[in-house]
Amino acid sequence: MNRVYIKTYGCQMNERDSDAVAAMLRGKGYSLVDNEFDADVVLLNTCSVRDQAEQKAIGKAGHLAKRKRKDPNFILGIMGCMAQNRGDELVDKLPDLDLVVGTQKFHRVPEHLDSMIATLQGQGPRPDTIVDLAEELDSQNTIKSHVDDKLQVTAFVSIMQGCNMKCSYCIVPKTRGAERARPMDEIVKEIKELAAKGTREVTLLGQIVNQYGIREFPFVDKKSPFVQLLEKVHEIDGIERIRFTSPHPVGFKDDLIECYGRLPKLCEYLHFPMQSGSDRILKAMRRPYSIEKFRSIIKKMRAVRPDMYISTDVIVGFPGETEEDFELTRKHFEEIGFDMAYLFKYSVRPDTTAEPLGDPVTKEQKEERNQILLEILGKRSLERNQALVGTVEEVLFEGPAKKGENMFLGRTRGNRVVLVKASPRLVGQFAPVKFERATASTLFGELVLEGVEAQSA
Ligand code: SAH
Ligand code: SF4
Ligand code: F3S
Repeated sequence: MNRVYIKTYGCQMNERDSDAVAAMLRGKGYSLVDNEFDADVVLLNTCSVRDQAEQKAIGKAGHLAKRKRKDPNFILGIMGCMAQNRGDELVDKLPDLDLVVGTQKFHRVPEHLDSMIATLQGQGPRPDTIVDLAEELDSQNTIKSHVDDKLQVTAFVSIMQGCNMKCSYCIVPKTRGAERARPMDEIVKEIKELAAKGTREVTLLGQIVNQYGIREFPFVDKKSPFVQLLEKVHEIDGIERIRFTSPHPVGFKDDLIECYGRLPKLCEYLHFPMQSGSDRILKAMRRPYSIEKFRSIIKKMRAVRPDMYISTDVIVGFPGETEEDFELTRKHFEEIGFDMAYLFKYSVRPDTTAEPLGDPVTKEQKEERNQILLEILGKRSLERNQALVGTVEEVLFEGPAKKGENMFLGRTRGNRVVLVKASPRLVGQFAPVKFERATASTLFGELVLEGVEAQSA
């Protein structure tokens, strides 16, 4: 009864949380499997950011509940943001659930599972659902250093939890609670351990990473705690690339921009959520910046690193978004020239300040606006990739590609996906690749064999 499958929905933070739960479970003698059919226990780590994300997980849970009715020993749990958001209601809807574990309680999953299994093995009546959703002081420090022995070439590291912003559309402050930073030395310790096991690239995670520790730690030499953390991570031997996600325009000051000029490990790639190009809509979203401010930060970044790759998040169809508002989003989106973007259709979230505004923009309008941005993105992304054809860049190899014999996947510093025929020995290594062909999403290339070029030159 100890084979566990964890299915993860939502953002990188959720992936990191799932990895941590998996590592804790392995440490207790559970084995982790990669599909639900081989599992005795299925845990869904869920997301609430849009209705669709919730519906997917509810659909899956409903399906798995049927299996449970045939196999009384099968265990089904829901954890993460939707558990936090809809806890008791979930149990009413899906009475077969065994575990409902909130975002501050991931570290308690192993003990809850142990007790559920012990009760089941005692052959007594089926235990009630375990619901554990309370807030926990210092819970940001529980998801840490769960470093497995398996190689993680690139690793996510949560540096904080929660969010204190009040974006009117967003449910994250409710599901993840208030902003809490982890201590710097603990983060550094975790990354050193990762580096010792072969990790070459880290992505620092937080809802607003540049706000890291703003209440807990002082500025030093006019440097924010986040910049101080970047400097510390930069010193770690073995870590060659540093990324972070997501920063917010508020608090994106010169001390952070300057890092791109002086910290060579900091990759020239930035995920920088814009949300809308209309000041009126930004205001209604309670995003406290103007589009000019947003663009001025990008301009400064590009002055420091002209080859910067920038990605973003945009929501189309926020209540009250007119054709004129969307035209502004389209214009700025095109002029800025994003290399990557996550485009979302507005979804009403319960108990947010935008909820009373309803959802007046029709599905068709949202679809159309989404499509317009997608086309701009596809064009720009293809142009940027095509411009790389014929050039050579260093690629960090992460693992086998999903398709193709001997094909391996890597990324450039600009976060472009690269597929190359290579040997498994390259996983975890950097190697120069010459790009030969490009699509909007992928570069295809060949390894440059050192020495060979020199001879032919
Ligand atoms: N903390 C991050 C975002 C986390 S949520 C930040 O502020 O940048 C990821 C993205 O989901 C958001 O940037 C937003 O674009 C989108 N999103 C959040 N709530 C949404 C909603 N109700 N409907 C549609 N998209 C939403
Ligand atoms: Fe949500 Fe805004 Fe916080 Fe991001 S900053 S998690 S969008 S409330
Ligand atoms: Fe979703 Fe929670 Fe992340 S709502 S986007 S999984 S923080």
